[in-house]
Amino acid sequence: MTIKVGLLGLGTVGTGVVRIVEGHQEDLQRQTGLGIHIEKVLVQDVSKARPVAFGDGVLTDKPADIIANPDIDVVIEVMGGIEPAKSYVLEAISRGKHIVTANKDLMALHGEEIMTEAAAHGCDVFYEASVAGGIPIIRTLTESFSSDRITKVMGIVNGTTNYILTKMSKKGAAYEDVLREAQQLGYAEANPSSDVDGLDAARKMTILATLAFRTNVDLTDVKVEGIRKVSKEDIAYGKRLGYEIKLLGIAECQQDEISVSVQPTMVKTTHPLASVNGVFNAVYVYGESVGETMFYGPGAGELPTATSIVSDLVNVVKNLRMGVNGRTATLAYKEKKLRPDSQ
Ligand code: NAP
Ligand code: HSE
Repeated sequence: MTIKVGLLGLGTVGTGVVRIVEGHQEDLQRQTGLGIHIEKVLVQDVSKARPVAFGDGVLTDKPADIIANPDIDVVIEVMGGIEPAKSYVLEAISRGKHIVTANKDLMALHGEEIMTEAAAHGCDVFYEASVAGGIPIIRTLTESFSSDRITKVMGIVNGTTNYILTKMSKKGAAYEDVLREAQQLGYAEANPSSDVDGLDAARKMTILATLAFRTNVDLTDVKVEGIRKVSKEDIAYGKRLGYEIKLLGIAECQQDEISVSVQPTMVKTTHPLASVNGVFNAVYVYGESVGETMFYGPGAGELPTATSIVSDLVNVVKNLRMGVNGRTATLAYKEKKLRPDSQ
């Protein structure tokens, strides 16, 4: 039996998904016991040259070819943005399709609604790639540390800004030049102000704090400041004092009170986060029982991000084989209490 996949989007990440699904066919089949086939791919412009080739009729600009296609079992959403991605995802769920998405904007703002709909229709929704690209941090929080009480999640969760800050610090490069490079490398969001103004990191911290503290954290609960005002002089001054400037996301839960922030932060050069360079991300997780842990890896880019997506796809396909889909959508959250000084 073969599981048929519809891909919404064929940009940086979608291309990586096609490459991994096609290049690792045999291994994926051995792990899942089922074949995986990309049946249809939605793009805006079907006439555009693409780095991956398809048979006739696979590329489409009609969303219904995927969303309303009864042959398609799993929809991978890698278009980005809120609309029309949200409507497509909800429509696909209402038709019993399982979802894999890399879309942090969508999951940070509408994750609860999407998970509730998924639960109602027995659908899986996996979104590992939405935070920290190739680092399996969502699986870590929801599965590996499900036994623990997490008190702090802190780290570098945006590749573009870390790439910019690193090049400014190590090469004295100009902010605008490095931002352009990050865009050419496919790291930046369609609207890169999401990266540089800290919103992308705030969306990721919303997702991480929600999962870590098992309560519904909203994007509006996160204090945000981006890197636009960080100058080469600030970076040089920090270095003279023994610090690197990093855009840090910090989520804490003390006595059940939560605070979440994203801001440029002076990090002592001896601290492991100071040596996280380029597009790499790192996330510290502190649990009452486990203590201190740290996860490090590429935070953006075609193949690292696609690795997380295809691993999610493998989970969906294994669930399909065992008939246990819908497990991801059954979280019961605690009531949220914000730390009074956190806003
Ligand atoms: P991208 O390169 O801009 O690609 C977007 C793709 O979606 C394009 O193929 C585009 O079609 C298609 N698309 C956009 N709007 C559409 C619409 N209304 N109808 C049909 N097709 C549409 O984006 P990306 O970098 O791959 O990112 C995709 C998602 O992954 C985003 O949610 C992003 O935040 C997330 N993500 C990205 C990275 C990364 O490193 N880039 C890492 C983690 C997560 P055309 O090709 O025809 O224009
Ligand atoms: N624009 C994002 C970043 C992509 O630079 O981290 C990965 O989520």
